[in-house]
Amino acid sequence: MLSIDKSLQFEGLDNFLYATKENVTNTILLVDDEINNLQLIKRALRGKYNILTASQGQEGLDVLKQNIDKICLIISDHKMPVMEGTEFLEKANKIAPDVIKILLTGFTDIEILTDAVNKCNLFQYITKPFDPNELIAVVESGVEKFNLSSSKSLMMKDLKELFYKTIKSISATLDAKDAYTHGHSMRVTLYSLMLASTICPNDLKFLENVEIAGLLHDIGKISIPQRVLCKPGRLTDDEFVIMKSHPVCSERLVENIKQLGEVGQWVKAHHEKWDGTGYPDKLKGEEIPLCARIVAIADTYDAMTSTRSYRSALLHEVAIEEIKKCSGTQFDPELAQKFIDMQDKIKEAKEDPEKFYKQYSVLQKLIDKGITGGF
Ligand SMILES: [Fe+2]
Repeated sequence: MLSIDKSLQFEGLDNFLYATKENVTNTILLVDDEINNLQLIKRALRGKYNILTASQGQEGLDVLKQNIDKICLIISDHKMPVMEGTEFLEKANKIAPDVIKILLTGFTDIEILTDAVNKCNLFQYITKPFDPNELIAVVESGVEKFNLSSSKSLMMKDLKELFYKTIKSISATLDAKDAYTHGHSMRVTLYSLMLASTICPNDLKFLENVEIAGLLHDIGKISIPQRVLCKPGRLTDDEFVIMKSHPVCSERLVENIKQLGEVGQWVKAHHEKWDGTGYPDKLKGEEIPLCARIVAIADTYDAMTSTRSYRSALLHEVAIEEIKKCSGTQFDPELAQKFIDMQDKIKEAKEDPEKFYKQYSVLQKLIDKGITGGF
């Protein structure tokens, strides 16, 4: 055990930036109740990193929370009063799972150490007494790992943003093919998200895919000739056959993007009906994917409440009555009821879809928070 140099105690354990070089950007948090150990580590890492210190676990957690955007690596002593190093690192891992964690320990029992590695998501443990050069090498590789994974996360965030903006543009371009469907895909996506949020508000992955499916559900209409797509008046039987091919075409376009998983099946099924009389596969009841049942209601509501080349928009109340009437035949009755229950909110969203879209968009929230998982 190192002896305590009393004079060093007055230097205090306040946090300060140890290094002053402008190009030093990586910040390390040291947590140790032994002032001499802190000094030893600081000396070893001097000039290479910004160093923050804490003399016990709770203080360490506070410093971590206050500097969460800066800290890339934590070194903690194992044996500390009040909160042991493993407990501190376990709590730190919940706050900052991506930050690299190193434990300095006097224990050599492999079971204790394995347990610590698993519980705290440890990058490495270093047994005491340690060689400063060994510590420097471990810290360097930890910082490198952190920086690599940060750049990967940033790259994934950019990619996700690019993907999101691309599908939004594609969907807007499709809507622009026909003046009467302007904003249709965006509104269908909005109503779908609103309905899906009442069923599984915390399933971000599902909501994200509902948003993608909503935006891309009619993408297959790209293959439909303009004369059929924008025909004022009723379609002939032959034209209707052509029009009915769009869900399969949507699926073909989407299934090529393997990251979109089931979204292809969902867009293919958005014209299926609960009683099995829809198209293209005449799926029935719960054979129809949940998302497709959601989009079907949103799609029909928007089609009814928008002006089309062959008729003017129906009133919100009339559209809701129609959904009620078709519950159990065209629509999943449970979902139709949920949609009817939230009709006031839907009506409000219809008046200002862009504002509501910002509120409900899961993709935008994931991008803003820098979450890249699931893509
Ligand atoms: Fe469609």
